[in-house]
Amino acid sequence: MAGSPRAAERFQVRLFREALGAGTSLAIVAENESGPVGFAEVSQDVETPSLRVLARAAVAAMGPVGALRAASRSLARRKVDLSAPQGGLHLVELQVVPDLRNRGVGAFLLACVDEYAVAQNAGHVSLTTATNNPARGLYERNGYRLVDQKTDARYERITGSEGRVLMVKPLGTP
Ligand SMILES: CC(C)(COP(=O)(O)OP(=O)(O)OC[C@H]1O[C@@H](n2cnc3c(N)ncnc32)[C@H](O)[C@@H]1OP(=O)(O)O)[C@@H](O)C(=O)NCCC(=O)NCCS
Repeated sequence: MAGSPRAAERFQVRLFREALGAGTSLAIVAENESGPVGFAEVSQDVETPSLRVLARAAVAAMGPVGALRAASRSLARRKVDLSAPQGGLHLVELQVVPDLRNRGVGAFLLACVDEYAVAQNAGHVSLTTATNNPARGLYERNGYRLVDQKTDARYERITGSEGRVLMVKPLGTP
């Protein structure tokens, strides 16, 4: 959507900073003796950021022309947007440093997210991801179930993924 992996990373970092600064997101960070090795970004606000916030982050990450091109591509993304159910915690992002993947850090972070969600009296944890994301296996093993899916041909041409899925993990009665 952003035009290149570097631009996408800059865009995500901007949005993440913005959300942390505004207090709409919280980061749970996993560390080892050398420092941070991964994080989970969670939010109680399941709405996507406002157009103003998105536009500002896009211009900062991609420049005005890149932001305009990304805005056009984002129409395809809108076709596969899925609304998370209210009353829960939303897992916005999960990342582990490449060198330390497949050692259980992701599962550990998901357990921390559950613990935080229960402490917040959330009824469930939700997330959306690309249909072809290999992380879906990790989410399923940790109790997330597929509840909705949307596909779009243009989105697939741009991203290589057929579409997006909404997965939800119920946490029992709050
Ligand atoms: C997804 C991610 C956080 C998992 O962290 P992790 O510490 O490797 O997780 P664990 O060791 O607990 O579990 C490994 C599982 O991660 C998933 N995984 C492995 N490589 C992956 C990759 N390159 N991208 C996404 N998921 C991957 C798989 O489900 C794997 O288990 P499986 O192959 O047995 O099914 C990590 O791979 C990552 O940062 N990927 C890139 C960012 C990403 O895709 N985040 C999810 C966005 S919704």
